[in-house]
Amino acid sequence: MDDNKKNILKNQYEGSKALNYDSIRKVSDRHIAEISIIKDYIMQIKPKYILDCPCGTMRWIDIYASSGASVFGFDISKDMIEQARMKVTENKLENKIFFLQGDIFNNNFVFPEVNFDMGLCVRFLNWIPMKIVFNVLTLLNKYSKSYLLIGCTVIPSNSSLLNRIKAKYYIFIDNINRIKKKSAIRYVHNEKKFEIFLKTLDWTMVEKKITMNKQYTVNYLYLFKKYNRF
Ligand SMILES: C[S@@+](CC[C@H](N)C(=O)[O-])C[C@H]1O[C@@H](n2cnc3c(N)ncnc32)[C@H](O)[C@@H]1O
Repeated sequence: MDDNKKNILKNQYEGSKALNYDSIRKVSDRHIAEISIIKDYIMQIKPKYILDCPCGTMRWIDIYASSGASVFGFDISKDMIEQARMKVTENKLENKIFFLQGDIFNNNFVFPEVNFDMGLCVRFLNWIPMKIVFNVLTLLNKYSKSYLLIGCTVIPSNSSLLNRIKAKYYIFIDNINRIKKKSAIRYVHNEKKFEIFLKTLDWTMVEKKITMNKQYTVNYLYLFKKYNRF
C-alpha cells in the first residue's frame, strides 16, 4: 500500500468528516447491529483492559462506560480522537479511557499495556490489502491476550461460484467509482485467509455474527479466543 493510498484513507477521517462521522452512521442498521453485538460480547466477557484500534470516535463508548473497563484507543486521526475525547469528558471517563494518536503502518509506537484482555478492530480491515491485514493482526496479537473482536466484510466461504463472481463484479464497479471520486478503495477479503493466519497465532474463531448483508458480501463481527498451545 503506497503512501498516496495511505493518505487518501487518512484524509477520509479528518475535519468535517470526523465531525459528521457518528451522525451519518448511527441511523444505519449496520451500526445498530454492531452496537448490539459488541454490547453482548463485552457484557459476557467483562474484559478489564480493552484495546480499540483504530478507535475512531469510539461509537460504543457507552458500552465501555457501563462495563467499567479501562480502554486504550489508537487512531491516526486527531479529529476522530477529538470527537471521542469529547464523549470522554461528557461522561467523566478521564480515568478510564486513554488515547494515542499514531500511524498503525509505522512500528514506532508502543502501547502502554501488553496484556489487553480484548482487542477490537472494527471497520478498518476492508480499507487495507490482505498483506497489511496480516500486519495489523500481528499487532493485535502482540497486545491482546484473550479475545479479539474483528469486523470484516467478506465473500462468505460457502458462496456459490456464481455469487462469488457477482460479488467481485460489484466490488470492482464500486472501486472504479471510488477511484473516480479519489476516495480510498475497498478490499473485500477471503475469510478463510485471515482465520488461518490467526490460527497460526493460536487464535480460534468462537463465533461470527452478521452486521450487514449486501451485494453478495457479508460483514461479520468475528470473536476469536486465544488458546495457548503450551
Ligand atoms: C471506518 S473508521 C473506523 C473507526 C471505528 N473503529 C469505528 O468502527 O467506528 C476507520 C478509522 O481508521 C483510522 N485510520 C486510517 N488510517 C489509519 C492509520 N494509518 N493508522 C491508524 N488509524 C488509521 C481512521 O482515522 C478512522 O478513524
